[in-house]
Amino acid sequence: MPISEKIRKDMAEGSWIRRMFEEGAILKHRYGAENVFDLSLGNPVMEPPDEFFRELKKLANHPLPGMHRYMENAGYLETRAAVAEQLSRETGINLTAKEIVMTCGAAGALNVVLKTILNPGDEVILLAPYFVEYRNYIDNHGGVAVVLPTDERFLPGLDAIEAAIGAGTRAIIINSPNNPTGVVYGEGLIHALGELLRKKEAQHNTEIFLISDEPYRKIIYDGIKYPSPLCHHLRSIIVTSHSKDLALPGERIGYIAAHPEYNGKEELLNGFIFCNRTLGYVNAPALAQHLVRHLQQVTVSVAAYRKKRDFLYESLTGMGYSVIKPQGAFYMFPRSPLEDDVAFVRELQQWQVLTVPGRGFGTPGYFRISYCVDDRTLEGAITGFQKAARKFNPG
Ligand SMILES: Cc1ncc(COP(=O)(O)O)c(C=O)c1O
Repeated sequence: MPISEKIRKDMAEGSWIRRMFEEGAILKHRYGAENVFDLSLGNPVMEPPDEFFRELKKLANHPLPGMHRYMENAGYLETRAAVAEQLSRETGINLTAKEIVMTCGAAGALNVVLKTILNPGDEVILLAPYFVEYRNYIDNHGGVAVVLPTDERFLPGLDAIEAAIGAGTRAIIINSPNNPTGVVYGEGLIHALGELLRKKEAQHNTEIFLISDEPYRKIIYDGIKYPSPLCHHLRSIIVTSHSKDLALPGERIGYIAAHPEYNGKEELLNGFIFCNRTLGYVNAPALAQHLVRHLQQVTVSVAAYRKKRDFLYESLTGMGYSVIKPQGAFYMFPRSPLEDDVAFVRELQQWQVLTVPGRGFGTPGYFRISYCVDDRTLEGAITGFQKAARKFNPG
């Protein structure tokens, strides 16, 4: 057998997003791509902002000497300084280039962080529903995922977190704005979480990292202000990317930020830099680093995503679906009218609408819709949602 038993097993359990993608490919072949309404992937249909192309042309017309060479494993100093300046502006915390490591997307950042901090068997708390790859990343580095449910508004319960934290707890991963729910955690919650972590650290004589996965931080609606965990826990680690806020997922550019006042930061950051190298990433892509250095204050059109959110939310609730209105990101996580979310997702497929069952995010009984698609796809899916609503009466 060419692959390990473990990988064969992991592949078979696989990602529901991937599975839906593959089933969608069959439907597209059968009905024609224009007749299949694919809301299964978080792959933004929007092109990057104009400023990105301006920087790209500038760089092509005036190449920098040595711009394609190896660099420090942490990334270009100028890019890290630009990231630190922007993050300082957003959080009010004074960060410098020293606290930033450029990475291959948020996925690369998460792997670097987990590789750096985990001892074998260390526990990492996840809050369901969660981005499914977290489990693989924790497993990659010998950790154990401890999954806790959230409440009916998809907010974590502090009591449940308190009960779950033991001497073996090394980190908790939070993701706000959230994939798949679109929920944004408020300042009060983040503050209370920081306090709880410190209480448990003192109790067990440990350090517990608050890993904040923030690729949707700038895609936020209704004037809500994003509360940064950096303001509430010294052992916060920010992992993020420009995959969504600049619509550059293929360019694999992101970063890690550590708290400037954490007294273990020097060793922690040296650990990140070492792991960025030894995991084989070596450094984040040079070209993308040159570009995003000048784009720290640029974001895709949030208004365009808000319009899509409003259209979908009004349409679905009008049909009787039960949905928490997303405050950020570009996903919706309605309750499945059928108890069996996979069965419901398959029903939607009958009308050529592709979504992902909630169990793919650790929360059966729901389904995820990704609305980072063009308006034609979103509008085309409405008929399918309507037919399914008439058949199963979600209201
Ligand atoms: C919550 C979350 N974290 C991390 C990632 C990975 O993003 P990146 O492309 O920056 O690696 C994604 C991608 O969809 C995501 O939704």
